[in-house]
Amino acid sequence: MKNIFRLQVKGLRPLLILFSYSAAALAQSITIPIETKDNALVIQANSDKDLNVIYFGKKLAETDEYDKVSDLYKQRNDNSGVFRSVYTSSGSRNLLEPAITVTHADGDNSLDLKYVGHAVEKISDNVSLLSVVLKDPVYKFEVTLFYKTYFKENVVEQWSEIKHQEKGNVVLHKFASANLYLKSESYWLTHYHGNWAREMQPEEAKLTYGIKTLDSKLGTRANLYMPSVFMVSLNKPATENEGDVLFGALEYSGNFKVDLELDAQNGLRLIAGINNYASEYTLKPNKTFTTPKFLYTFSSKGKGEASRNMQRWARDYKLLDGNGERLTLLNNWESTFFDFNENKLFGLLKDTKNLGVDLFLLDDGWFANKYPRNGDNAGLGDWEPNKKKLPNGVASLVKQAGAEGVKFGIWIEPEMVNPKSELCENHPDWVIKEPARAEKYFRNQLVLDLSNPKVQDFVFGVVDHLFSENPKLAFIKWDCNAVIYNAHSAYLKNQSHFYIDYMRGLYNVLAKVRAKYPKVPMMLCSGGGGRVDYAALQYFTEFWPSDNTDPMERIFIQWEYSYFYPAITSANHVTDWGKQPIKFRTDVAMMGKLGFDLNVKTLSPTDLQFCKAAVQAYNGIKDVVWHGDQFRLANPTEGDVASLLYLTEDKSTGVIFNYLVNNRYAAGSQFPIKLQGLKANKKYKLSEINLYPGTKSTVDEEKTYTGEFLMNVGFNPDVRAGRNSVILKLEAM
Ligand code: GLA
Repeated sequence: MKNIFRLQVKGLRPLLILFSYSAAALAQSITIPIETKDNALVIQANSDKDLNVIYFGKKLAETDEYDKVSDLYKQRNDNSGVFRSVYTSSGSRNLLEPAITVTHADGDNSLDLKYVGHAVEKISDNVSLLSVVLKDPVYKFEVTLFYKTYFKENVVEQWSEIKHQEKGNVVLHKFASANLYLKSESYWLTHYHGNWAREMQPEEAKLTYGIKTLDSKLGTRANLYMPSVFMVSLNKPATENEGDVLFGALEYSGNFKVDLELDAQNGLRLIAGINNYASEYTLKPNKTFTTPKFLYTFSSKGKGEASRNMQRWARDYKLLDGNGERLTLLNNWESTFFDFNENKLFGLLKDTKNLGVDLFLLDDGWFANKYPRNGDNAGLGDWEPNKKKLPNGVASLVKQAGAEGVKFGIWIEPEMVNPKSELCENHPDWVIKEPARAEKYFRNQLVLDLSNPKVQDFVFGVVDHLFSENPKLAFIKWDCNAVIYNAHSAYLKNQSHFYIDYMRGLYNVLAKVRAKYPKVPMMLCSGGGGRVDYAALQYFTEFWPSDNTDPMERIFIQWEYSYFYPAITSANHVTDWGKQPIKFRTDVAMMGKLGFDLNVKTLSPTDLQFCKAAVQAYNGIKDVVWHGDQFRLANPTEGDVASLLYLTEDKSTGVIFNYLVNNRYAAGSQFPIKLQGLKANKKYKLSEINLYPGTKSTVDEEKTYTGEFLMNVGFNPDVRAGRNSVILKLEAM
């Protein structure tokens, strides 16, 4: 006899179902399918109470058929019985990469986790939470695994809670969030590497036997060399619209580790969590260690569907104000750097108004007096307005912005400090450094010790002070430019808690900021895209993908981010980077949240006229850019043209961005580009928008096309040299 529990959201009332088993009841196996609209992860406790993954993939209509799967693999037994473990322990039978490793209070290193019971809580019509309790039969040690399912979006968040009642402290050496098990003939991993101005460089490769690790040990700015987002395709590399593919990401802003172990049974063991590097954690009895969430979605229809599901999930459930509005802006970083004063800024407020954007964003350089912030080598940490540049403080800028009819926002980097600062002089013990070693700087700065509650109060105070002095402050850009060298806290007794307690400190501060200022838009920035993840994005409305704003580079960078993050999160600025004309630069920035960071006064009259009209054109399409579904039509890594469609959920309005990404002879859209996601029997009309003054469109706006035609034959935006960026508006008749 088998017990099967289908975890599925039906009915309306929140519901809590609890299952707990006596030893007798567990003589039989217990199957728990964790299902979303299209997929299932099926776990099963066998008669020994070992809890294993027995299926991962497309959902089956007949739940009891999951049970038949394992028998069909004619493979030699793995002996240990733990290859498929839902949370692999170590020190006992397991000899593979573990999800958890501990030293018990008595010094023993072995752990075995057995199924005890599970509970399902229905959080809403769409969301359920399964918790599964595992206990060690020998030690008073337990782990609860959580699976939060978002039914319609096919998204699962998975994490674990670890606790014990031993007679003394337990040391956790490894503490993963999730441990999945996939079964397929081959596995293709897409992951990313990068550096400053080179974020999100993709690589795809077939996984070979052994362990491939994606990780970061940078502490802060953790994604500088590698983000935690990745894809695993099964059997063959998935394309935009075909293939089985899992998208994964750790919701964590600090050191992460994702191990992908191709085991001796040709299964893929996926173990993701906080990086345990230099992070042994001492857990007191009855205290709970909660891991961050591992996020994943699976699609059997390729990368496009997976990304639309993840984007919708992000807007509906994670991102701050995910379905709300955003502010267009003029930023002064690229046009002034540190060289400005009140007068100059008053001029920029006028430019903001003239351009027609919503907000002026004052960047780095407005603060510090003893060591003025006139370059990146001093002043960080001293958050009083610089008296020379701003004799009347920030208040007069906010006031003047109001008089000009625009909003005002400001840059801060509150986690950091320059050695040349009063803060560093007054609180040397707040700074992360090895006391006996020479200091090592990253961009001339050091990181403040957020594991220290006093430092948390200070960082919160930076934000709180700005808002309490300037209630009309409308935007914050929160930067984080340094990694952590010489990781040592003067506050912590146990240094191996440092990396984890830093992140806890950061989230404490952000939660406090949001408790007091729930909605003010904040941009997550880290010397470009050095910190982009969904733990941070629950406090932020957008992120800064890269300091590289060359539009040709941005097409590729934004393209890769778009698989995981919705366009509403992507702050894109028109700058002087790159050789392309202003129209190309603006069109690329319009694919996300539009901003400008250039000297408006030096624009030619026609360029200025174009930019002003572009802001108006953007206002006409921003709703679908921010809230629509994205369909990647032509991949810039594969041909001469990049093409992306944004479509409203009702499929009535869309916008298609098209760019030439190759300058070779006759490069362009020689073939029609097939659209996606339309209603086959609806009639659509296409028109070109955002034309440069004096140019004419080659698109025949009189013609109409059925959705069927546009999806099967396509449309040619006529992209070529001389028409290297084309934005089309799509409207159902
Ligand atoms: C980082 C950011 C930039 C700018 C500078 C200011 O590099 O990514 O956008 O704010 O800091 O110093």
